[in-house]
Amino acid sequence: MAEGYGLKYGVVIVAAGSGTRMGSGIPKQFRMLAGLPVLGRTINLFAEAVRGIEIAVVLPQERLDFWRNFAARFDIAPHKCVAGGAERTLSVRAGLAALSPAADIIAVHDGVRPLASPELIRRVFECAAEHGTAVPAIEPSDSCRTLTGRGGSRCADRSQLRLVQTPQAFNADILRSAYDSASGSLYTDDASLVESCGTAITLCQGERTNLKLTAPGDFAVAEALLQFMTGSHADDSSDI
Ligand code: C5P
Repeated sequence: MAEGYGLKYGVVIVAAGSGTRMGSGIPKQFRMLAGLPVLGRTINLFAEAVRGIEIAVVLPQERLDFWRNFAARFDIAPHKCVAGGAERTLSVRAGLAALSPAADIIAVHDGVRPLASPELIRRVFECAAEHGTAVPAIEPSDSCRTLTGRGGSRCADRSQLRLVQTPQAFNADILRSAYDSASGSLYTDDASLVESCGTAITLCQGERTNLKLTAPGDFAVAEALLQFMTGSHADDSSDI
């Protein structure tokens, strides 16, 4: 794919969070999942999906040496390591600074999403190469309500809602200039930050199996999904 477009690709994998919601001493990105650290599995997804991709991994400052030693014990694709910041936005900024200026399209991915399929990763890069931005999304399967304050709520039309995932990919100039100019900590993803700078966001098909490891039970679900995915393809059946 990389050769097909004549473009260079990079990814910032953010893994500098403390993972406190998991309720375990070890941050979830360093825990084992089916024989590999979660973060190592995530790194390998990109190396396998896009030949020649440049990978920058953002870690807590105090975990840099730990990760280098730990990663050396496994078969994990080459990657640069850099220290993150107190907020996700600062961590992405540090990752962008670590990538070479040569990358034409840059994705940002949560280190705790180790189940994204190669098809999803390539779809996102191809969409960004065509449209400048690419954000994978899925339809909610639950009914949704909007909070109206004072304990009230009202029904929301779920056909008009999408759940947003990573990897999110962007033309490198768009992403870098958004991170150069945006400030504040309200952004929970890169699409929100890029959109706040006036760039329209293009959605593409996400995957239900692209789980973000958040709560303790998610590891059991991820193990089961890995078995399912090696037996068949990830679910990409829902519409945008
Ligand atoms: O905070 P949240 O769970 O949404 O984090 C999503 C991703 O961002 C995780 O992979 C986490 O490690 C990363 N992150 C980071 N730096 C922070 C906070 C979160 O790299 N300061």
